Formats: sequence, structure tokens, C-alpha cells
Amino acid sequence: MGRTVLVVGGGGREHALAIGLLESESVDAVHVAPGNAGTANIAVNHNVSASDVSSQVELAQSLGADLVVVGPEVPLVGGLSDALRAVGIPSFGPHADGAMLEGSKDFAKQMMLKLNIPTAGVQHLTSQTNLDAAVDHWGPPWVVKRDVLAGGKGVVVTEDRGEALDFIRTSIESDGMVLLEEFLVGEEASMLVMMDESGFVALPCSQDHKRVGEGDVGLNTGGMGAYAPAPVATEAVRERAISEIVEPMHAHLSSLETPYRGCLYVGLMIDDEGAPSVVEYNVRFGDPETQVTVPLISSDLCELLLAVAEGRLSESMPTFSSNHAMTVVLAAEGYPGPPVKGRYITGDLSDYTDSVGRAFIHHAGTGTSEGDLISTGGRVLAATGIASSLSEARELAYQKLSEVELEGAHFRRDIGHRAL
Ligand code: AMP
Ligand code: GLY
Repeated sequence: MGRTVLVVGGGGREHALAIGLLESESVDAVHVAPGNAGTANIAVNHNVSASDVSSQVELAQSLGADLVVVGPEVPLVGGLSDALRAVGIPSFGPHADGAMLEGSKDFAKQMMLKLNIPTAGVQHLTSQTNLDAAVDHWGPPWVVKRDVLAGGKGVVVTEDRGEALDFIRTSIESDGMVLLEEFLVGEEASMLVMMDESGFVALPCSQDHKRVGEGDVGLNTGGMGAYAPAPVATEAVRERAISEIVEPMHAHLSSLETPYRGCLYVGLMIDDEGAPSVVEYNVRFGDPETQVTVPLISSDLCELLLAVAEGRLSESMPTFSSNHAMTVVLAAEGYPGPPVKGRYITGDLSDYTDSVGRAFIHHAGTGTSEGDLISTGGRVLAATGIASSLSEARELAYQKLSEVELEGAHFRRDIGHRAL
């Protein structure tokens, strides 16, 4: 009998997961809560907030879900996986303690120091006095991180000493502490690692584009586009990242009473000599990295995620295609500030396939109003291309994006610039 899967969340990541699950032979039905207009086209949406842990558990029980795949970090930190396991439903995503690797940057830092995992040096600041000395220790640029879940907005990287000091002061005032980090030089890549106590497997590395503007300038965003595989993560870099970063973390997490079962997102900085260090951990799939990584998995996605949720990954290792993928985010006017919502999205959003490859739309902040497609968030949708080369994937993605219209929207024209 085919499986019933519930995907928790409503962004582009969850649309990509829903597509991958529906393409899995082992799957009968996919439900998404809350989902978006894209998931509504292919699966069944349920109007339940991703962060409402008890309602998500009730929904999973009422659907008779064989597997729940948790997209965002907030429900993981809130204990959704623990609550699902308590009622016997396998959940892809770590328990609340494991989710602290993303929930607290301070906790993650202490863990890395304890396990000797390469990462930026850190100062833990709690007092408003002697801040000048702290700031003069490293930098510019200065890297200041609040120890809160802030959807990527709790970090300031700046060459402006005054701005760094202001952010340090206000963060200490509101949170009682703040982290000041050594600036790491290099190129970033995202390594998504499927992990449970039986083993781990790193998916093809991808590269996100976090700044809003072309040439990597302007404010930080949730991510404006991504591609995979990222050539900066050569085989040698991957091997180092696995032996110096993933293996020690996996050994530690597997030794805990409740093992880590889910995706460990390792944000890497790779220096000129190919030495990787950790910029951050996330305890979930990346967004938009998932949109370019899941399509490269050639084996059954549901089988992989269920195996991880049940702690038997080593028996169900995935296989990958040799394709390349690129996704380009279309953001609403105003993003990454408060976005203009409720505008009509028009044009040709249908899938496109030819001898070169496939192009399609991943929905994110979309909904419907009286049957018309409208924008409901900052990152509205993304156009994704899959082909046998990165340049062809790029062409397909931008061609698809040019067929979509949304007043005031913006996107970056240089996704993949480091690789192409
Ligand atoms: P985080 O939320 O910790 O990933 O930080 C957001 C972004 O800030 C990262 O993707 C990097 O581009 C940048 N960043 C964070 N920490 C550092 C660091 N120690 N050195 C250089 N850049 C950093
Ligand atoms: N794209 C960055 C993240 O998912 O955190």
C-alpha cells in the first residue's frame, strides 16, 4: 500500500519536498500544512500553522500519516518531532534538544569547540562595558550574532564600527548577551547531510545567494537563488568537511539518548586552500537549497526520509543523478523589508520540458483570491531549471522566470556567477 506523507511548512522548500515525494513510487498521498498555491495544485493543503505543534500532531493522526516531514526550524525547536514520536508517527527532523544546534548559536558554538570542529573564533559579550576592546580584537569586518531564532535577520556583518557597536549594545539590552565572531574569508557552500544513528550521507553541495543585490551587495535575505552541485565544494573539500566536521558531529549526536534524525545543514566557509569551517548549523533543509538538491536525488525520496525518521538510513542510501539545477527567487516589492502582498501573479507558470531539460516554478509566498493567483509573502516563487550542465539549467530557469509577471517584483540576474 502507498504511503501517506504530511509535509509541515509552506515555502518553496516544502513545495520542492512535496514534488519529490509525489514522484516517489512508495507514496500515495501528500498533504501539506499550511502549504501554498503551488502545493495546493499537486497535494492537499490544510490550514494549520507550521508552528502549532499540537494541531500538527492532531492533523498527522487524523490523516493516518506514515511519515511527517518537518520543513521549518520553529516547530522542531518547539518539539514537533518529539510529540509525533510520542504518538508513534515517524518524523523527519530532530527532537527539540537536537534542534538547539540552530535554536541557539551559542549552544552550537560550544558544541563545535568541544568537538574541535573548525569554526570562527567567538567572544560571548554580556556587559555594556569594555565593548571597544572587544570590537578591536578582530575586524573589520565585524560579525555580530544575536542568539535568537530570527529567520536569518539576527546577524550583522559590517565594515562600519559604529553599526557593529550599536547592534552589540541593543542586542545585549534585549537578549542579555550577543556573540561577536571572527570574520571568515572564503566562499560559502551549503552541505545538507541526512543523518540518523545508523549513518549519514551528504547530498550534493549547493550555493545560496544571501544578499539581496547582484554582486552580493545589500541586505541579507532568506536566500535569492541557489544552484547545485557547487564546484567550490570539490571532492577534496567534501572529504575534509566530512572527516573534520560531519563525522565528529555525527558521532556525538549518535551517542545521545535520543539520536538526531533529520537533515543537518552545514553552512560552510571554504578558504583559498580548500579548508572548510562552519559558519552555522541549521537543523532542517535549506530554502532555496532544497529546490536544487532534491531534484538531484534519483532514488525514492520518501524511502530516504522515512529511513532517516526510523533510524535505518544505512540500509537505504540514496543515489544521485549527474544533473545540475538552478533556482532563481522572485521577491516581492519591499523584500527583505516588509513586502507588498496581495498582488496578482500572471503569465505562464506551467512546467516546461524539452531535450535540454526541465523548467518549473516552485511556489513560496503564493495564495489564491477568488481563483486568482496572488502574492502572500516576501519570497513569492522561484523558477528552477534542471539540465545536464549548469549553464543550461541557468538558461531554463531565467527563461521560465521571464514568463511570470508580478508588479514591483525583483530578482537577481547573477545567480551562479561564482560557478559560471
Ligand atoms: P548565519 O545566520 O550565522 O548563517 O549568518 C548569515 C550570513 O552571515 C552567513 O551566510 C555569512 O554570509 C555571514 N557570516 C556569518 N558568520 C560569518 C563569519 N564568521 N565570517 C564571515 N561571514 C559570516
Ligand atoms: N538558505 C539559507 C537557509 O535555509 O537557512
